[in-house]
Amino acid sequence: MILESHSFLLVILGFLVICKSQSQGNVHYYDFVLKEKSFTKLCSTKSILTVNDSFPGPIIRVHKGDTAFVTVHNQGKYGVTIHWHGVREPRDPWSDGPENITQCPIQPGTSFTQKVAFTLEEGTLWWHAHSSWTRATVHGVIVILPANGTSYPFPEPYGQETLIIGEWYKGDVMQIINSALATGDEPITSDAYTINGQPGDFYNCSKETTYRFLIDYGKTYLFRIINAAMNEELVFGVANHNLTVVGIDAAYTKPLNTNFIAITPGQTMDVLITANQKRGFYYIAASPFYDGTAMYDNTTTTAILQYSGNYTPPSSSIPMPILPALNDSGMIFNFTKSLRGLASQDHPAKVPTNVTRKIYMTVSMNELPCQNPNGSCLGPNGTRLASSLNNISFQIPQIDILKAYYWNISGVFSEDFPDQPPFFYNFTGDTRSNTLIPSTGTRVLMFDYNEVVELVWQGTSALTAENHGMHLHGFSFFVVGVGTGNFNNVTDPKSYNLIDPPEVNTIGLPKDGWLAMRFVANNPGVWFMHCHLERHASWGMHTVLIVRDGGTMQTSMVPPPKYMPPCS
Ligand code: C2O
Ligand code: CU
Repeated sequence: MILESHSFLLVILGFLVICKSQSQGNVHYYDFVLKEKSFTKLCSTKSILTVNDSFPGPIIRVHKGDTAFVTVHNQGKYGVTIHWHGVREPRDPWSDGPENITQCPIQPGTSFTQKVAFTLEEGTLWWHAHSSWTRATVHGVIVILPANGTSYPFPEPYGQETLIIGEWYKGDVMQIINSALATGDEPITSDAYTINGQPGDFYNCSKETTYRFLIDYGKTYLFRIINAAMNEELVFGVANHNLTVVGIDAAYTKPLNTNFIAITPGQTMDVLITANQKRGFYYIAASPFYDGTAMYDNTTTTAILQYSGNYTPPSSSIPMPILPALNDSGMIFNFTKSLRGLASQDHPAKVPTNVTRKIYMTVSMNELPCQNPNGSCLGPNGTRLASSLNNISFQIPQIDILKAYYWNISGVFSEDFPDQPPFFYNFTGDTRSNTLIPSTGTRVLMFDYNEVVELVWQGTSALTAENHGMHLHGFSFFVVGVGTGNFNNVTDPKSYNLIDPPEVNTIGLPKDGWLAMRFVANNPGVWFMHCHLERHASWGMHTVLIVRDGGTMQTSMVPPPKYMPPCS
């Protein structure tokens, strides 16, 4: 009897210890059912791949320190993977998701559980499919509230709203990209932008469903804005209302007052807005920013900010925000330059200073010889469009790089992505340069654990100069410098901001410009880096970073989960 009560006590004690060790956060479980569903937009009906029948998909809502287990059940027609954009996933690339980089696709009729650990992130992120162009319809918001017992570094907003901006294609997105890749031409553009799935008042057959957000006069709201569009940077504003940016990519910023934001695909911005205008209706609008030469979808999506209460609805038309001109590069550049990290006592900016590894990486549009059996492609001069980093157009392998790395399978990738471009020339002036035709390969950047990295992305005008939304998995990085023209490694570092640079996971590299960022390679694993403009990614504008284990258990990759989707 005594023995029995003893062991009972031990069980209770053990249980308490387990509870205690998890007390930093809660655990959430989600089921994501991937399947086709019909939607009618822009006067036509089509079937799209969705999660839980909704477009955009479900919102994941957690507190900093929580963990989510998401089980993806694929009831669709083809293999898909899901990625948690901006979640660092410390030591656990197995749950990161990019197809054939960290896992093979989840095949129809199978499921896969991913562990999403929210450790340092606080603010807004998003999740999306990471297989070819499936993310066009398979995406949703991640809201990360302050950890229990802590609060925002600004007065608690009265209300909150998520605004995820997407692109709607009348056609099938997979067919669109596959046919573009087959002909070598640009993919056709989308037919509308959407806010929370709705195109808004300025598109055919859309007025009835325009997204509306009801606000109370005098109150302040937190808008969580995500650019989930496929191929376009966007500008966003609210008529007659000022915006105060307080966070980007789930890290706080110094409050930035502005009447518009520029947001690149993949980025998120948290913005405060105070309902201090005459009671009425006001347009929330997003339209593309585009200063290149490719085709783009030049339309505007809107939602409506609607004041609550009894008032005579406005008789005149609803006011529209005044947004920068379509190609106002200067305005966009200044916006990026004016972002500052919060760098407060509670949210310090741990900007690395003792750089041990410097990487200079060109980001280029290119062309490759046509490979069609009938010998003709629709890219420039009969070639097919391509793109590259350091002049390497990345080839996605048939089995995932993480598996190949972990199990020492040779022949899948090589560890020799260079720290420098192959040729130095006037990157931002010379269009038909000797780097017009890139090399191809699956070459990976290798890092020792804890290397302190400074990476400078250099835009080029090899084929055409464009903006690029550069994104890194597994890390956030500090944007310490940004400029136009060619990076000068003697003078430009003198103007770096090492005090309060913004900490992001995605950033717009300005057209014909450069951008310097820093991070510590303290997350062992296999991490994708790519342009978040989907057409550029499809043409090879990416590479992979592998961070080696650091020699102890706490500095090494966790072992794979029992079940990983097999590579066929
Ligand atoms: Cu939004 Cu590779 O990710
Ligand atoms: Cu790009």
